Amino acid sequence: MSDILVHAENGITTLTFNRLDKKNSITVAMYAALADALKTAEEDSGTRCVVFQGHETIFSAGNDISDFLNRPPSDGESPVFQFLRRMATFSKPVLASVCGPAVGIGTTMLFHCDLVYAGDNAAFSMPFANLGLCPEAASSLLVPQMFGYHRAAEALMLGEPFMAEAALEVGLVNRVLPPTEANNYAQSVARKLATKPLSSLVETKRLMKGAQQERVLKVMQEEGASFGRMLGEPAAREAFTAFMERRAPDFSKL
Ligand code: COA
Repeated sequence: MSDILVHAENGITTLTFNRLDKKNSITVAMYAALADALKTAEEDSGTRCVVFQGHETIFSAGNDISDFLNRPPSDGESPVFQFLRRMATFSKPVLASVCGPAVGIGTTMLFHCDLVYAGDNAAFSMPFANLGLCPEAASSLLVPQMFGYHRAAEALMLGEPFMAEAALEVGLVNRVLPPTEANNYAQSVARKLATKPLSSLVETKRLMKGAQQERVLKVMQEEGASFGRMLGEPAAREAFTAFMERRAPDFSKL
């Protein structure tokens, strides 16, 4: 079965991370599948909204670490950047249901969603500094805007997980639910949105987000250039190798 399940029904496209054995970490092929699915959903006039979901126990462990080591993004046309640009420019409502860990891009992609529902087991983290990396997905802009600077610095510099209730408090999450109910609840909200005039939803989103869109894309590009360079540097290589070898990284000589 595919690592990304695409299910389109009654105007709702549901994209499910389905790589449980690797904690729904996202490979190059999965980014390509997500970018394609978003393109189809954008262009299909019958599609009213998109829902991202994972499993009750895990949303996503972020980028596949062996891909970071062996198949890092080579340029701005790499599937990860195509996916992120689609997220940042998607004109229709995007919802997410998040249970369990949401690591790295599993969290930063949520800043491009319109409505986020979380299981009470959701644990969000952006551990870029622990991996010798820097923020991506315009998170260096969007996290301070949403959290305030000091809480953003804590999230992006310490990279420690924060739970659903904290995410609710800073405005990343709309509602916290039992994990068994989160996906169904997101679907019920998507069904509600699907009954509304699409033109009003698209215009509402454009008015809320449009003014900042160019800035978001520019920041993403700048972050992407740094991220791409840092992926090949010693700190990131040490962090990825340590993860694969199931040991703590040693940055003491770097
Ligand atoms: N890339 C590739 N494989 C990953 C992965 C990732 N990001 N995250 C988990 N996996 C794999 C593990 O290597 C392991 O594979 P194996 O069974 O073949 O050894 C399997 O998924 C289970 O992972 P494990 O760490 O044992 O699960 P856990 O429940 O103890 O912890 C996480 C779950 C998500 C907290 C933990 O896996 C984790 O921190 N992953 C790395 C997250 C990360 O740093 N992502 C990059 C962000 S930029």
